[in-house]
Amino acid sequence: MRSVSLFSALLLSSSAIAEHPFVLDAKNNVTYQGLNRNDIEVFLGIHYGQDTSGENRFKPPRPAVPEPSSTIVAQSYGQVCPQPLGLGAPPLTLTNVTEYSEDCLVLNVARPSGLCAEDRLPVMVYIHGGSFWFNSNQDETTAPDGLIVESIANGLPVIHVAMNYRLGFFGFSQSDALESEGSENAGLRDQRLAIEWVRDNIANFGGDPEKITIFGQSSGGLAVGLQILAYGGSKPIPFQQGICESQALEPGITGNFTIDAFELVVDAVGCNSSALHSPETVSCLRNLDTQALQAAAESTYLSDIPHNIGDIWLPVVDGDFLPAAPSQLIAEHRFAANVTAMMLWAEDDMAFFTDTNITTAADTHDFIQSYISHVSASDVDSLLDLYPSTEFTANEAANLSSEFYRTARIFRDILMVCEPVYLGSALAAAGNPVYLVEWNQTILTPILQDLYNESGFGVIHTSEFAYTFGNLSHYDTRGYAFDPTPEDFALAKRGSRTWSTFASLGVPGIEGKDTFQGFERSFTTGGSDETFSVFVAGGPNEGFSPVEGSASKAVVAEQRFKERCALINSDSFIKQLDY
Ligand SMILES: *[C@@H]1O[C@H](CO)[C@@H](O)[C@H](O)[C@H]1NC(C)=O
Ligand SMILES: *[C@@H]1O[C@H](CO)[C@@H](O)[C@H](O)[C@H]1NC(C)=O
Ligand SMILES: *[C@@H]1O[C@H](CO)[C@@H](O)[C@H](O)[C@H]1NC(C)=O
Ligand SMILES: *[C@@H]1O[C@H](CO)[C@@H](O)[C@H](O)[C@H]1NC(C)=O
Ligand SMILES: *[C@@H]1O[C@H](CO)[C@@H](O)[C@H](O)[C@H]1NC(C)=O
Ligand SMILES: *[C@@H]1O[C@H](CO)[C@@H](O)[C@H](O)[C@H]1NC(C)=O
Ligand SMILES: *[C@@H]1O[C@H](CO)[C@@H](O)[C@H](O)[C@H]1NC(C)=O
Ligand SMILES: *[C@@H]1O[C@H](CO)[C@@H](O)[C@H](O)[C@H]1NC(C)=O
Ligand SMILES: *[C@@H]1O[C@H](CO)[C@@H](O)[C@H](O)[C@H]1NC(C)=O
Repeated sequence: MRSVSLFSALLLSSSAIAEHPFVLDAKNNVTYQGLNRNDIEVFLGIHYGQDTSGENRFKPPRPAVPEPSSTIVAQSYGQVCPQPLGLGAPPLTLTNVTEYSEDCLVLNVARPSGLCAEDRLPVMVYIHGGSFWFNSNQDETTAPDGLIVESIANGLPVIHVAMNYRLGFFGFSQSDALESEGSENAGLRDQRLAIEWVRDNIANFGGDPEKITIFGQSSGGLAVGLQILAYGGSKPIPFQQGICESQALEPGITGNFTIDAFELVVDAVGCNSSALHSPETVSCLRNLDTQALQAAAESTYLSDIPHNIGDIWLPVVDGDFLPAAPSQLIAEHRFAANVTAMMLWAEDDMAFFTDTNITTAADTHDFIQSYISHVSASDVDSLLDLYPSTEFTANEAANLSSEFYRTARIFRDILMVCEPVYLGSALAAAGNPVYLVEWNQTILTPILQDLYNESGFGVIHTSEFAYTFGNLSHYDTRGYAFDPTPEDFALAKRGSRTWSTFASLGVPGIEGKDTFQGFERSFTTGGSDETFSVFVAGGPNEGFSPVEGSASKAVVAEQRFKERCALINSDSFIKQLDY
């Protein structure tokens, strides 16, 4: 499984002896020439897969094969995959994409300076989010430099890799013809190939191919969940640990959002949607140029719920990468053997995506029913009953009603809490260590106020980035309001060091290090119906707490995770959530 070359142990890299760091792949006599940045070394835009345009569009990625005895100049980012341009959505993302290409299967390696091959550092492989529709491995919010610098200061240094993968129409098109040729879930297959590249090549960079943690946020968290379920666990996985941040699964994967979106694009470009599932339609799509297809995907883009949460391009059960519905794979324990997992949600993960016009219980009902449109009216009522209106309080200054907060909480629990708990408890029942985190601190509030005159959203989606990537200053940009407290600077150390400690030791923090303290496994009883615990990270109540019982923190107990997730994760509910 490993490919540590005999020669690589002899290799030095180099900041001391060369202006630019280099890494030699001795087996192929290929040299990677990188850059020094923030006291670390980065190798940018390395191809792990070949061009995916034309005949290769939709097809499983083909590994990139470097020319023997060549030098690969890895000093600038590669191309990003086709996506809407100028969609920077601060503070969720900060970098505007200005051009794209289908030759986008590239990754970046970032590492402490002066490593040699025998250092065998743990590796963290990042899968970016963005609704499987936008974003890349270049976004400022997820730059790895701070994480690496903090990991060195913590005495447990790590290497970081981040890949691009195909998005939207190019990464997630589905039809019978695509399924028969094995070309569905192309974006997930790209991610898998990138992880395999890491397994096969990272030793040259000083990394340990047997200590790989994949992590991702939002759709990237969903990607981590699906990489754990890949092939129903029938093939060995090229990683050992996973962190799912703000998503691990998603309602609608077995629904019709994506095939409907595909049909709209096929129509818009005139490729005969009456023969939607035919090989002719696929050939027709392969003969069109990138821009025309991306433009059609954008002009036909619909959102599945109000306020544009927008997860339309979703993975599909293809009988191969996903041999059955994710919920079925989980129920049948068909997933990776031996994977240590951490799952995170933000305290107010969905507030930014919840309709601010919600003021009445009827509005709450309508919003939730339209989000989970296949759940029966009586089940929606049972769900709403578990969240009594009286438990929520309006924020007059922000002009946000108590029903707004109620809706945001129900929305969060469905997507960001209970689905990860469902996957986590199944992993735990199969004997894997599983850790649950509720993230409860943010520096994004002043930016929302400044840019959008919005307040009262709390700890929104992406809030952990400033801390887990170890650099608050990513948000001190473009004149945005930036006002971190000493507690924020402290959490940036503690949070990022916890992430890298997890990658190194398989536990989220240890005594004697500046990491989270007292963070134990969340499921101690085999994961089934027993109680579980969460670690609250940041905010006034940091620490580990059972979700119920006398040892439970009040702020955790009042969220009634066990009871609410028992309904959301019940068999009949899951069926109706279409995943
Ligand atoms: C390795 O590649 C370099 C060029 O990068 C070349 O000069 C050298 O001869 C090659 N060595 C071997 C053993 O092929
Ligand atoms: C991205 O570009 C758009 C328009 O091109 C601009 O309005 C926006 O401010 C830019 N965003 C960032 C984060 O630079
Ligand atoms: C932190 O982010 C700021 C702003 O992007 C950047 O100038 C600085 O170099 C970064 N430092 C590290 C260690 O990542
Ligand atoms: C998807 O569409 C098919 C036919 O177009 C329909 O029979 C099926 O019920 C739909 N499924 C969902 C979950 O909407
Ligand atoms: C489109 O597909 C339908 C169904 O297979 C077929 O009857 C029709 O002839 C096709 N139209 C064109 C223009 O190819
Ligand atoms: C709220 O209502 C206003 C006025 O009807 C409308 O312009 C706005 O788009 C609505 N906001 C959302 C998030 O639906
Ligand atoms: C407050 O929210 C309500 C309901 O969304 C809206 O109708 C009203 O215009 C808002 N008021 C202000 C001052 O924004
Ligand atoms: C900002 O939001 C507040 C509260 O919703 C509202 O009263 C005020 O009119 C808004 N200001 C602007 C400039 O839109
Ligand atoms: C999250 O932080 C807020 C204050 O910022 C606090 O009121 C709330 O109780 C905290 N929630 C948890 C679960 O610690």
